[in-house]
Amino acid sequence: MGLKFLSEEAALPVGSMKAFDIDGEAILLIHLEEGFFATQAKCPHLFMPLEKGKLVDGGKLRCKFHRAEFDVKTGKVCQWANFPPGIQALNLFRAEKDLRTYPTKVEDGRVYVEM
Ligand code: FES
Repeated sequence: MGLKFLSEEAALPVGSMKAFDIDGEAILLIHLEEGFFATQAKCPHLFMPLEKGKLVDGGKLRCKFHRAEFDVKTGKVCQWANFPPGIQALNLFRAEKDLRTYPTKVEDGRVYVEM
């Protein structure tokens, strides 16, 4: 599939993120101090939109719904769903799962993702 255009660099300031639908795949583009990172846009816990979440601790993405946290750069789970209390009972069916990540590239002020 190759490189796909996502956004103008200037349209997404550091500390913000935005979801895109690229050929039927939901991709979340995140702008950290270190650059642009792309992950799957749906939380692997219960498939809620990660775009509604929050960037915390300079590089983690916390899902708004049950507070799972992921390392934006690697996609690794930092903390699995833990809110509201009792949600862990679902872990039997929804075990920890890392986020899929995609390489990004910035060229002439435009951000691309490698699919
Ligand atoms: S849907 Fe993201 S933590 Fe549950």
